[in-house]
Amino acid sequence: MTALAQKPLPAHVPPELAMALPLFARKVTYDNPYEVLIPQMHADLPAVTYVTNIFPGDQPGWLLKNAEDVQAMLRDADNFTKNGMGKWAQNIGENWLVIPTEADPPVHTAYRKALNSHFAPQKMFAMKDQVRERARTLIDEFKDKGACDFIADFSEKFPVFIVLDLLGLPQDRMAEFLKWEKELLHSNDWEVRGNAVRCVKNYLMEEIEARRVAPRDDYISKILTFEVDGRPWNDDEVLGHCFNLYIGGLDTVTSLLGNIFAYLATHPDKQNELRANPSLIVLAVEEFLRAFAPVTAFRIATKVIEIQGQTIMPGDYVAFSTPVIGRDPAFYEDPQAIRFDRKAPHMSLGSGIHKCLGMHLARLELQIAVEEFVTTLPEFRVKDGFQIPYFAGNILHVPDLHLQWG
Ligand code: HEM
Repeated sequence: MTALAQKPLPAHVPPELAMALPLFARKVTYDNPYEVLIPQMHADLPAVTYVTNIFPGDQPGWLLKNAEDVQAMLRDADNFTKNGMGKWAQNIGENWLVIPTEADPPVHTAYRKALNSHFAPQKMFAMKDQVRERARTLIDEFKDKGACDFIADFSEKFPVFIVLDLLGLPQDRMAEFLKWEKELLHSNDWEVRGNAVRCVKNYLMEEIEARRVAPRDDYISKILTFEVDGRPWNDDEVLGHCFNLYIGGLDTVTSLLGNIFAYLATHPDKQNELRANPSLIVLAVEEFLRAFAPVTAFRIATKVIEIQGQTIMPGDYVAFSTPVIGRDPAFYEDPQAIRFDRKAPHMSLGSGIHKCLGMHLARLELQIAVEEFVTTLPEFRVKDGFQIPYFAGNILHVPDLHLQWG
């Protein structure tokens, strides 16, 4: 399952711990990684591995396969930073931060203080009818056709609608938004990524500028009134935050929905359980978050630190891979079983100070999407002859999913 490392290794990396892993190969595989690669990794890999292809551009970093080690790292903001780690601005020769993702305490604490109440459960719950309406409009387009292209017809568009609604941006540039999003998050080519960053930045800056001149009753106008260190957020900070909602709120939801619906389409019993009893959906979504988590995020070590006997040096990237830790057999009893009554904690929406700002919205979107599908459509399945592709990379997802029913 692995390839030995090709490039010279830093002196503190034991050669036997260095390898490229197919889970981060940024390639399509037709073997479901949640069922094949990840259990194999838990069986074969040591607790800490130096993975030479773990970061986009085939850059190396440490993979912690145990949920408990990841938990300890996420609680340790003194030894691990996120500052500048996405390399979004650096990649285009600029130095703004993606906020709050790339900020460290104490400024991170100040940013979250300004932001948290705007993403509180009751605020997100107030968007429920709008979110449901968006889901219904999309499902109405194909519900009588007996088939849909789930990703293109539903899961890509749905979160874009919602994030644009959240920010108060018009819906008419959906196609461009989707193109930039794919280039930003799925390309392994830093030039393609950089061009997409510029496009998103230029678009957001225009919208921010328009609201500086004439504030509206929308979220971007509100951000312009946020304060940090006793002064209003500057343009770079407003941009950095809008950019964070763009990269955080779209692809994650699309990916998780693809993973969930690939499962439901191949497990009619589970689908029908939810259809017969939609009140199970809230708990089912938590189990789906655990079992089909897409995101591999990172921290950068700031000091020399030891994890499971291995020395990690300052500047080393350490991965926090939610698909891997969500299936940790040392943390979950029978992790391969999907049980709606499991009620187990998970870190698929993060943990510690950087825990997902949009988590209540994410849950609402996932719950409503599952509910609208199972209550509107009869039993659906994978289209005859279609093989489900999985894209193995930093966001583990199903890039294409054809469903049929009737
Ligand atoms: C199912 C969907 C989602 C998943 C799986 C997800 C996952 C995550 C994870 C794992 C983190 C922590 C990253 C880290 O610690 O390095 C995070 C942070 C974040 N997410 Fe989400 N997310 C989802 C949806 C959303 C949505 C809908 C929004 C906003 C509209 C959002 C905005 C953010 C922001 C702003 C952060 C940074 C928080 C901070 O650094 O303090 N996410 N998300």
